[in-house]
Amino acid sequence: MRVKDFEGRLLILDYGSQYTQLIARRVREAHVYCEIHPYHLSLESVRAFQPKGIILSGGPSSVYEEKAPLNPPELFRLGIPILGICYGMQLMTHVLGGKVAGSSKREFGRSDLFIDDERDLFAGLNGGRAIQVWMSHGDRIEVPPGGFQVIAHSPNSPVAAIRHPGLRLYGVQFHPEVVHTPRGKKILENFLFRICQCPPDWTMGSFVSKTIESLREQIGKEKVICGLSGGVDSSVVAALLHRSVGDQLTSIFVDNGLLRKDEAGKVEELFRFNLGLNLRTVDAGEIFLEKLAGVVDPEQKRKIIGNEFIYLFQKEAKKVGGAAYLAQGTLYPDVIESVSFKGPSAKIKSHHNVGGLPERMHLKLIEPLKELFKDEVREVGRELGLPRELIERHPFPGPGLAVRTLGAVNRKDLALLRESDAIVEEEMRRTGWYSRVWQAFAVLLPVYTVGVMGDERTYERVAVIRVVQSMDGMTADWVALPAEVLGAISNRIINEVRGINRVVYDISSKPPSTIEWE
Ligand code: XMP
Repeated sequence: MRVKDFEGRLLILDYGSQYTQLIARRVREAHVYCEIHPYHLSLESVRAFQPKGIILSGGPSSVYEEKAPLNPPELFRLGIPILGICYGMQLMTHVLGGKVAGSSKREFGRSDLFIDDERDLFAGLNGGRAIQVWMSHGDRIEVPPGGFQVIAHSPNSPVAAIRHPGLRLYGVQFHPEVVHTPRGKKILENFLFRICQCPPDWTMGSFVSKTIESLREQIGKEKVICGLSGGVDSSVVAALLHRSVGDQLTSIFVDNGLLRKDEAGKVEELFRFNLGLNLRTVDAGEIFLEKLAGVVDPEQKRKIIGNEFIYLFQKEAKKVGGAAYLAQGTLYPDVIESVSFKGPSAKIKSHHNVGGLPERMHLKLIEPLKELFKDEVREVGRELGLPRELIERHPFPGPGLAVRTLGAVNRKDLALLRESDAIVEEEMRRTGWYSRVWQAFAVLLPVYTVGVMGDERTYERVAVIRVVQSMDGMTADWVALPAEVLGAISNRIINEVRGINRVVYDISSKPPSTIEWE
């Protein structure tokens, strides 16, 4: 995909806000292509990107700090409309000669915003009446820079939004990108469409057709290899490449025996039989079980599974012969992580991202999804006609059920876990909860408890139900499922899965717990 194919490009400069990705998602939802770059992107690079507009994110700094992230005043004279959010507004004020001050009245949380000028940025937002906004700031604007007008105020911020009409510069003290600013979407759309005049040309339909075209051009007559895991990202990559270069693509599916119920069969059926992909399956369940025998330490388990996967994948790939490319399902959040404001982070990568493989195998890398957020990948999947069940499936860890059956992995426990997990998924789907949460699954504990079934005493295992809500998996809240749903899951597991006589619900959030148990 060539970014330049999309005319409505917006640039987001990042000052370290926890909401920066959210700004990008809101802009993309409005069908405008945008990219996040660190705040210190050179003016030359800003010009080269040819943005229709720039958004400056918030951030934890104060403009008066010694190492505060600042931009040269020239940024504001490029003739490109700019919207500064929170810290972005303070920085713009500071650099252009206004006055920012630490306030004794910090504002965190919901606040009322009174709109004083209902044109451009606030067009269509009921003037006269206050709208609810989300504030999160210590410093505030005391005096706007010369030429700026105050266009909104709040009880604690006399200058809550500003505008320089000639230069098309705007600043807002609140966060329009969060859901707690219910009309925030409208404000961002006003900036994108009224002020920047971005055409809303970023649609997943156009992404698909343009990507197919450029993949064809890039790959020519060469062969491509792709690892298929059954997850959304790799499935979409495979489907996209298959559409682009057909049989030049060979997909490799390593069945490690640690997948969810019926998953391996479904992958085969869909990709080999329905879509007609050139698929090589490595049936390696036995090998993985052997390697994992007696291993209790979670890190050790992960390492063994990762290494074995790489070894088997590489071995299978060699059989294809003459491949020039390896396609991978890297997403935009992974890319931002590595160029972020704070520098590369220590995020754990899935072994399915086959780290280091392209170099070792002397393959060039293709990452067709690296501009996309997860929800956009799902939309691409829909465009490509992949089944809904696959597209909406919850994330699943690379090491699979091995990190959900605690203690040493064995065939019997895997079977108990697989059945319990399938019941959790079925009940969540049946009650409509599946699509409302980030993840819902079962965990099997290496613990026996006493129970009674009929007239008989039982001494069997414990299953955990884990259901969490999350934006990106980095933090997560446990979900307060209705008692009927929990009851239905518990009843079914105890009645249907021989070997489990107790079900408990995990009420821990991340942090301090993690989503997975190992
Ligand atoms: P944790 O347990 O770290 O999980 O809170 C965060 C999210 O990442 C998923 N996860 C993985 N995904 N390979 C993956 O592709 C892995 O090794 C892996 N470990 C955890 C987890 O399911 C959750 O969504």
